[in-house]
Order: sequence, then structure tokens, then C-alpha cells
Amino acid sequence: MLTALVTGGAGFIGANFILLARKNQWLNIINLDKLTYASNLENLAELRGDSNYHFVHGDIANVELVSYLLDKYQPDIIINFAAESHVDRSIFNPQIFIQTNVVGTFNLLEAVRFYWQKLPPQKQQQFRFLHVSTDEVYGSLQIDEPAFREDTLYAPNSPYAASKAAADHFVRAYYHTYNLPTLTTNCSNNYGMRQFPEKLIPLIILNALDGQPLPIYGDGQNIRDWLYVIDHCEAIYLVIQQGKIGETYNIGGLNEQTNLTVVTKICAILDELAPKPNFSYASLITFIPDRPGHDRRYAIDCSKIRRELSWQPQENFDSGLRKTVQWYLDNSEWVNQVRSVAYQNWLQQNYKNRK
Ligand code: NAD
Ligand code: TYD
Repeated sequence: MLTALVTGGAGFIGANFILLARKNQWLNIINLDKLTYASNLENLAELRGDSNYHFVHGDIANVELVSYLLDKYQPDIIINFAAESHVDRSIFNPQIFIQTNVVGTFNLLEAVRFYWQKLPPQKQQQFRFLHVSTDEVYGSLQIDEPAFREDTLYAPNSPYAASKAAADHFVRAYYHTYNLPTLTTNCSNNYGMRQFPEKLIPLIILNALDGQPLPIYGDGQNIRDWLYVIDHCEAIYLVIQQGKIGETYNIGGLNEQTNLTVVTKICAILDELAPKPNFSYASLITFIPDRPGHDRRYAIDCSKIRRELSWQPQENFDSGLRKTVQWYLDNSEWVNQVRSVAYQNWLQQNYKNRK
């Protein structure tokens, strides 16, 4: 079995990827994570005792540490999930986004370049560096514009998107300049179990269960393409195995929804799974002032990965959303643990003081 150094594996997508990779015996895993507010080692509790999984607490920007880990574990694959990932936080505090997403990815690339250059030819040839990115680098679409393709020009609009775009450019440059065998995936909005409740879907589920307002920015007509996180993880593994080096692959759910529709669907599921007498969760929906620079619409054309790697999303949105709501209902311990003082402070900053 090949060994992968996974960064940011204690976060939402990384943890789901690691659990799937270990369950299916895809890879041995070294997980390097800085353990920011968005991480949760409980996500990976079931891997205690798995001798093919190792956790390391550290920063991707720490070249010395990354070089040490590369020498020690001799990975065949790097999967870079580590990032600051929330647009609203990037509006309040962009600096950390530059530090982790740009400087961190650059430092990781540097450490990996020196490691890769010294590998024996066969190991060098099979080596892959997969960088996990987002559709937000392409900017915003009008309602009638075609979906983002791999050759759509980058036009990031938030500090988060700009930092991811910069990282993508460095990954591209390391392939062209040093022949580092890189792959980049640009994926749409993920949803599913273990997502930190600052993002729309888990925030709405938890606020609803608490009887709190369900905040919708602006008119609620902004559109996102939603992909179930397990579909994303499977696409990543396929790209590692079969992707053409130096290329980028768009990954999407073929599932465009307005925010208001998403929130209304969650309310309808909760009315069924956690009913309260004479009450509909939709009565908590509250329109609040818009996010600055709020992208109107994202849509992904994922015909390249379908054509070249035979991937397509498997989960249907209604059943995926139901599974997600059920997961939050079933995991009250996880939920109570993430609702820390820091999380309450974030809610205060983003919602209570909103103008
Ligand atoms: P997340 O915020 O849930 O998790 C990020 C993880 O990275 C956390 O465990 C955190 O501790 C870790 N981390 C942060 N800075 C680090 C550093 N300097 N060194 C090491 N670890 C660090 O994010 P996510 O939603 O799981 O997203 C993972 C990746 O996928 C990100 O690169 C993101 O840009 C990308 N992405 C996310 C989505 C989405 O909808 N969530 C969609 C497309 C792409
Ligand atoms: P989010 O989950 O933050 O993902 P992204 O900004 O990366 O797409 O937000 C998804 C959509 O939901 C986005 O259009 C912003 C909107 N939104 C709200 O309307 N209210 C909220 O409280 C949040 C967090 C997001």
C-alpha cells in the first residue's frame, strides 16, 4: 500500500477522506494538522490503534518539520487539504489566509520539491502532489452564464478565494518549472457529516435545533453547487490514481441550489426528524445584511473528470441532506464539543454585530 502525507486531515473534508482511505485500505496515512479552531481530532477517533495511521501536530508552513516528516515516512503522495477555509472569516481577518493558504502551500511545495528531487527514479515517477482547491477561484457567474471549466479565467473575489488562487498558481508553477508531478482539483461546496458549523448547512441545522434565527444573507437567491463530501473524497482518490500530471480537474455535484432552497429543505427534514408541536423550523428563517462582495452564483462543468476518469457524483441532494441532518442529530457529543466559547464569539462577531 502506498503512503500519503495528508495535510489538514483533522478538518471536514480531510477527516472524511482519511476515514474512507483507511476503511478501504487505499493508503497508509500521515496526517499533518495545525489543529486550528476548524479541526477536531474526535473526527478520527475510530482510527486509534490503526498502525497505518499517524497524526502529527504541526504547520504546513514549517519547512523543517515537513522535511523531517518526508524523510521519516517517505510518502508516495501528498494531499494538501490544509487551509483556512471560511469566506466570512477571510473578510474579518485576511492575514492568516495569506499565511496558511499561500505561504503554507509555498513552503510545503519547497520541502516536497527537495524531497522529490532526491528520490530514486521509480519512486520519483510514481510520486504525486495533489492540491485540493475550490471553484471560488473562478469568481462569480451570472444566472445565464455557462458553468466554470478548467480553462475559465481565474477571477477570485474574496480574500479566501484570492489566497486559494495564489496557491493554485504556485502549484502550477512547480509543475512547469521543476516538473514536480502535481495535480489540482477545484471543487464546489461540500456538505456532509463532520463539517464545522460556521458553514451554511451545519450552521442552519444547529441554529434550528437551538430555536435560534436561521440567517440568510441578502435575498437568499445566491446559488451554490453542492456536492456530498464522500463523492469529493472518491474523486480525489481517482485523480491521484489516474489524473494526468500537471492538470487540473473540476469536481462538482451537478446540483445548483439557491441558499433559500437549501435552508427550506433543511427545515422540512427537521420538521420530520425532530418535530415540535405546532411549529415549523422555517418560521426561524431571517434575512440579514449581505456578505460584502458576495458571489452570486457558482456552477461547475465537471465533464472533464467524467470523460477522462469516469467519475460522477453518486449521492442525490435530498438523500445526502437527510443523512447529514441525521448525523448531526445522532452526534450530540460532537456538536456540544464544537460549540465552544470561541465559536460563540464567532457567532457574535459575524451575526450579532452585522450591519
Ligand atoms: P476545514 O476548515 O474544515 O479544515 C481545514 C483543516 O486544515 C483543519 O483541520 C485545520 O486545523 C487545518 N489547517 C489549517 N491551517 C493549517 C496549517 N497551517 N497547517 C496544517 N494544518 C492546517 O476545511 P475543509 O472544508 O475540510 O476544506 C479542506 C480543503 O478543501 C481546503 O483547502 C478548502 O479550500 C478546500 N475546499 C473546501 C470546500 C468546502 O466546501 N468545504 C470546497 C472546495 C474546496
Ligand atoms: P458558506 O457555507 O460559507 O460557503 P461559501 O461562502 O464558501 O460558498 O456559504 C454558502 C452560501 O450560504 C453562501 O452564498 C453564503 C450563504 N450563507 C448565508 O446566507 N448565511 C450564513 O449564515 C452563511 C454561513 C452562509
